[in-house]
Amino acid sequence: MAALRKQAEGCERCDLYKNATQLVFGEGPAKARVVLIGEQPGDREDLAGRPFVGPAGRILDECLHEAGIDRSSCYLTNAVKHFKFEQRGKRRLHSRPNAGEIERCSWWLGAELETLHPKVVVALGATALSSLLGRRAGVMKIRGDLIATPAGYPVLVTIHPSYLLRIRNKEDAAAERGRFVKDLAKIAAHAG
Ligand code: URA
Repeated sequence: MAALRKQAEGCERCDLYKNATQLVFGEGPAKARVVLIGEQPGDREDLAGRPFVGPAGRILDECLHEAGIDRSSCYLTNAVKHFKFEQRGKRRLHSRPNAGEIERCSWWLGAELETLHPKVVVALGATALSSLLGRRAGVMKIRGDLIATPAGYPVLVTIHPSYLLRIRNKEDAAAERGRFVKDLAKIAAHAG
């Protein structure tokens, strides 16, 4: 994995490397049975060079903990390895990766999965799911389900944790958070 990461650091498969601070590769134990896949690094991850260390990472950590999953036993990565953003004054606003960027970067995700051979892969949101399936795919109808990728990996589908941060109504946010924890609690049954 260290060699793969080194190789990825020079990646110019798409243009996103030009504006990002650095590539944010996955991290976690070599023996991880569970791989969690997000969309792309955010502002904080881009600066730190590590996945899920910002606000979405914090809520993910809390929900994993509530679901009885130890984050440190999981490998965390992203479908796209460079931060894509729009500069607005001093702020860098998250911008969605397009289909071409997801497709080019899926090579690295495929290589990470081949190195790890996880028991279960968790797609956190539509970008991760699209990368794994090689086509656009909606999450809401199949969230909580276990599906197989063309490469044969079992994938547990759920929402992206940053979705929870965008829900304004407190009750809706709490209900959606509960659903997310329930989805994550299924990891253990598939990781054994
Ligand atoms: N959102 C993601 O999808 N990945 C990160 O690493 C951080 C936020």
